[in-house]
Amino acid sequence: MLRVRSLSAGYGDASVLDDVSFELEDGGALALLGRNGMGKSTLLATLMGHTQRRGGSIALRGRPVERLAPHLRPGAGFGWVPQERDIFPSLTVEENLTVAARRGPWTLARVYELFPRLRERRANLGSQLSGGEQQMLAIGRALMLNPALVLLDEPLEGLAPVIVEELSAAIRRMVEREGLAIILVEQHAHIALGLTRDAIVLERGRIVHRAPSAALAQDHATLERYVGLRVAAKAA
Ligand SMILES: Nc1ncnc2c1ncn2[C@@H]1O[C@H](COP(=O)(O)OP(=O)(O)OP(=O)(O)O)[C@@H](O)[C@H]1O
Ligand SMILES: [Mg+2]
Repeated sequence: MLRVRSLSAGYGDASVLDDVSFELEDGGALALLGRNGMGKSTLLATLMGHTQRRGGSIALRGRPVERLAPHLRPGAGFGWVPQERDIFPSLTVEENLTVAARRGPWTLARVYELFPRLRERRANLGSQLSGGEQQMLAIGRALMLNPALVLLDEPLEGLAPVIVEELSAAIRRMVEREGLAIILVEQHAHIALGLTRDAIVLERGRIVHRAPSAALAQDHATLERYVGLRVAAKAA
């Protein structure tokens, strides 16, 4: 599905990612962990072409995409749900979902089936949604583009526990029932590891640890070292 080789990138003169290599198989689910500012969002943004790439390659379904313009990357198969959930505040939920859609298995009906709250709120404006509903809409919008791989940047950040559970169940369904490949960035390491098969940990732009998610969930020393005490305690 995805092969990233020796990827280095940054912003202007500032270098952030250094020699990052990893692969994701079809239907694979990868957790991308690390403390604040370690380069997680930068890695997703680099896959989408929004940073300055210094070197390395990115292939999606065998096709080299690292030189593709950012606006063409969704068409190549990347679905991106950025950390800022940038939905259109002055469009309705339904308009947000349909304003940019590509033909494929994901339709409005299937997005509403995955997120019944969005169906209930379909005539509301983006600006009238709760944080959790905005996140559902941001994910729904990415699905409407029928991506091969969905990049989720802290989808659970700042949400109430009941909404975290609802969204986690939807993400699990995307992976297990729909067979979508995902890369999931999360501060809630215990949840991310429960939703994915493999995990990589970034520290200052480099991959410092990789392991099956189930193994990392038990590896409290590594979680404490690279992800933080608080998160490791929750995983225990
Ligand atoms: N648009 C930008 N311009 C310049 N530097 C940036 C930009 N975005 C991020 N950085 C820097 O790149 C580094 C990595 O940031 P990044 O946002 O990728 O981290 P992160 O792991 O996603 O952190 P968080 O968990 O806080 O979201 C940080 O030093 C950050 O200050
Ligand atoms: Mg980030």
